[in-house]
Amino acid sequence: MFWEILAFILGVTILARYLYPWRNSPLLPPGPKGLPLIGNLFDMPSSSEWLTYAEWGKKYNSEIVYANVAGTSIVILNSAYAAKELLEKRSAIYSSRPRLVMLTELSGWAFAFALMPYNDAWKARRRIFQKHFYPSNTDIYQPLETEYVHQLLFKLLEDPKPFLEHIRHMVGSVALSITYGIKIHTFNDPFINLAERAMTGVSESLVAGAFLVDTIPVLKYVPEWFPGATFQRKARNNRKAAKDIRCLPFIETQKEMASGSVAPSLISLSLQESNSEEYLDLLRDVGTQVYVAAADTTASSVGSFILAMVCFPDIKVKAQKELDHVLNGRLPEHNDMQSLPYLSAIVKEVLRWQVVTPMAVPHLATEDDTYNGYHIPKNSIVIGNSWAILHDEADYPDPHSFRPERFLKDDKIDPFVKDPEEAAFGFGRRMCPGRHIAQSTLWLAAGCILTCFDLRKAVDSNGQEIEPSREYRLGGIIQPLPFACIIEPRSKESEQLLRTALI
Ligand code: HEM
Repeated sequence: MFWEILAFILGVTILARYLYPWRNSPLLPPGPKGLPLIGNLFDMPSSSEWLTYAEWGKKYNSEIVYANVAGTSIVILNSAYAAKELLEKRSAIYSSRPRLVMLTELSGWAFAFALMPYNDAWKARRRIFQKHFYPSNTDIYQPLETEYVHQLLFKLLEDPKPFLEHIRHMVGSVALSITYGIKIHTFNDPFINLAERAMTGVSESLVAGAFLVDTIPVLKYVPEWFPGATFQRKARNNRKAAKDIRCLPFIETQKEMASGSVAPSLISLSLQESNSEEYLDLLRDVGTQVYVAAADTTASSVGSFILAMVCFPDIKVKAQKELDHVLNGRLPEHNDMQSLPYLSAIVKEVLRWQVVTPMAVPHLATEDDTYNGYHIPKNSIVIGNSWAILHDEADYPDPHSFRPERFLKDDKIDPFVKDPEEAAFGFGRRMCPGRHIAQSTLWLAAGCILTCFDLRKAVDSNGQEIEPSREYRLGGIIQPLPFACIIEPRSKESEQLLRTALI
């Protein structure tokens, strides 16, 4: 009996040491203390994680903090400097992705290269993306951005209330048309509906802690009929939606190519290069990835732009003065960017103020490493806290205020102010390869909306202004929740201007 008790105590001690080694090692970065076996499970925030992680940074006076959730190491980088040192300069060992069981293994999204480990499969897909969507290849994305932003103006004129829905439709149309070259219907487009259905499952699964199976992967073997296994039913629906969005628009492009009517796009141009089954499979993967990466993210930024303009009328008026002065009654075009610095500063401030992906997308360390004397264990999940970086007072004084002027000097973009692009779009080799498309869509939409419309707070039945709640749906990608506001043409001329743009 004595030996059995001793063996039991020894076993538990070894297990605890294995699962709870972090606070015994002085070399790990600082962080909350945690409990044996489960570590910091109960310290982990269930929402707005970026705020908690930034607070930990202050509490432990460290730009890098550490937590351990039941044996999984999590390293959070709260400063631009640490993110650059690790995720960029040492990107050879910090560019992989952690396992996302619900999304990749159960919901069928393993083909999405944003979620792939750092390997040849990822490289092959990212290469195709960059080959077509490199920044100076503006012909492939800017004309379609213009077409769908003009369509958005018309919708805002006809029916301004569901403006967030119109924005989603515009962004989705740009993503699908630059990828597949297919024409998107103004209303109720079947491909947009399909993509939105697929996106629902992705967004749900990206919310940290939404599915226990991501923390306890063995649960993936629980059968669908088992009580409580609703995640398996969701995963089955997600798999169907993922399969449809991966195949149906692709088939449409092939059909349009066969009839000779297809517009140039990532898929139609790539299909001219090879027809091997292996290559077609790669293209299906890359094509699907574009919508998933572009839609919610860009829509969030355009929604935040509207919110900012409603909340801060002085800034809106200043931007409209610049537009009126430079454009003299026409709509802005992409090549006006240099002449409209205040508008460009607003776009930068929108991306900084309401960080679309507050914690970017987690990376994975594939080797043991040491940073500033701290040990970073192999297989740590490494999170660049974009929100903390973009609200760092040292780079952006008064960081919670919306102040586009911070990016300007002598009426030009000040090159010495850190460009929010550096953190808003992630880090190192995994940095968003579509960031130039996102920014040019946001810039054009912002310029066209301000040229044509007045944006104001809604008023209640007593004539009192209704302050927008400024609430967001939180998660991996944040989204402004619907808010009431008035969107009206600035004048008869601006209404005429946008009507002619649609012709
Ligand atoms: C405001 C809009 C956008 C934001 C804030 C955004 C942000 C991000 C972030 C934070 C990442 C992860 C970076 C990392 O792992 O460090 C990412 C990845 C990615 N984004 Fe974007 N993105 C936006 C729009 C777009 C658009 C319009 C496209 C395509 C046209 C796109 C395509 C991608 C792809 C393909 C990846 C995966 C990269 C990889 O894992 O190698 N994104 N984006």
